[in-house]
Amino acid sequence: MKHSHLLFVFSIASMLFLTSCFDNKETVYDNAADIPVNREMIAELTSPPHVPTPVGKRKAKKLIVKMEILEKEGEMTDGVKYVYWTFGGTVPGSFIRTRVGDEVEFHLQNHPNNKLPHNIDLHAVTGPGGGAESSFVAPGHEKTFSFKTLNPGLYVYHCATAPVGMHIANGMYGLILVEPEGGLPIVDKEYYIMQGDFYTKGANGERGLQPFDMQKAVDEKADYVVFNGKVGSLTGDNAITAKVGETVRLFVGNGGPGLVSSFHVIGEIFDKVHIEGGDLINKNVQTTLIPAGGAAMIEFKVDVPGTFILVDHSIFRAFNKGALGMLKVEGQKDKKIYSGELRDDIYLPEGPGIQSMPTTGEIVASEVPAKSFEEQIEFGKQAYMQTCFACHQAEGQGVPNAFPPLAKSDYLNADVDRAIGVVLHGLTGEITVNGQKYNSVMTRQMLSPDEIANVLTYVYNSWGNSKKVVTKAMVEKVKNRK
Ligand code: CU
Repeated sequence: MKHSHLLFVFSIASMLFLTSCFDNKETVYDNAADIPVNREMIAELTSPPHVPTPVGKRKAKKLIVKMEILEKEGEMTDGVKYVYWTFGGTVPGSFIRTRVGDEVEFHLQNHPNNKLPHNIDLHAVTGPGGGAESSFVAPGHEKTFSFKTLNPGLYVYHCATAPVGMHIANGMYGLILVEPEGGLPIVDKEYYIMQGDFYTKGANGERGLQPFDMQKAVDEKADYVVFNGKVGSLTGDNAITAKVGETVRLFVGNGGPGLVSSFHVIGEIFDKVHIEGGDLINKNVQTTLIPAGGAAMIEFKVDVPGTFILVDHSIFRAFNKGALGMLKVEGQKDKKIYSGELRDDIYLPEGPGIQSMPTTGEIVASEVPAKSFEEQIEFGKQAYMQTCFACHQAEGQGVPNAFPPLAKSDYLNADVDRAIGVVLHGLTGEITVNGQKYNSVMTRQMLSPDEIANVLTYVYNSWGNSKKVVTKAMVEKVKNRK
């Protein structure tokens, strides 16, 4: 062989060698199982509505997840307690963020104070039971197993210990994200939201510690349908936030156990939805379906300020069972995109309509009666916030030209029996309150005599009113007059 020939072979070989070195950096593996892992790291776990730092360009690693199961009492809504079973102390459980090719070493720890064994089925696992078979763990023990993340996507995890439905119904679910090579596109804000349905012995709103009701769960008759484990987890001060111009990504899951979610944000259109948490992207979506045991990644840019309401568009769940959250957006208005109210004109084609609530059937008083003035005020405020607040507003200020104020109301303070009658029977026609005429319709309110006494006592003892105390006997006297 000639010398020059040899040199040629050598230079080709070294070129191949160099190329393969460069290649190594961006090798695309057909099979995710072949992606090598180097180094290990402790996974960052977060409580809802927060999510861990994006994976970005990091290499696949051995990722150590330590998840502690805690059975603990929490509050479903004002005055209603519930014993939740949790992954990491929250419902939904801690958010786990991985990338394709990670080798996850999963430590499932069952706190010694817990009463029951549990396990975990992660939908991101390829293997029997999604890990459930290897993770069944008694109180005071820790089980370890490992798995490789083969498929990118957003996955539900949940407890799969019998009775499975009961463990899920008590809050044992969460989300694990598997990002693709190179990570998801970077956005300004990311949040973690998970819907769940709850079944309690008492009816919705019935106070006290409420045990789980198996029969209602089997019948799928939920008392509460909520985001992030309780009524109000994403409203008021707990609302998620963004600024005008920012892009928002919501990781939304549905733990079930029973109901499918029609997830919708009032006043916002989803620019992109990773349907069912997978690769397929739908654009310009109004409402996306999130199956029980499924998830979706939702992205949109916020263009105008305001409060955007997150709901399950099976709408009684939102306004009567708790599936309601808020996204508060701050920033400059854009009148081109949304004008706000331009005019308020009179429109009376057929005179004022008359509406009434169904009047058949007695209202069952399921409530524990208030034992003191303080309890009357407390219970009355809860009833006010559920029933009266939408029209008469938080501070009893009413809505100009539509709903009369209750604060410093001469109409209210002049006649207690008349006020009781209005709550009992509703009111239609013109009245004058503090010198202003109102002509709207108040429907009959579905409140028990106890609740009417409480709510009126609350109203009379708020906002500069006459501080009267209304009793159940007073309500019944007015009720029996007709
Ligand atoms: Cu469990």
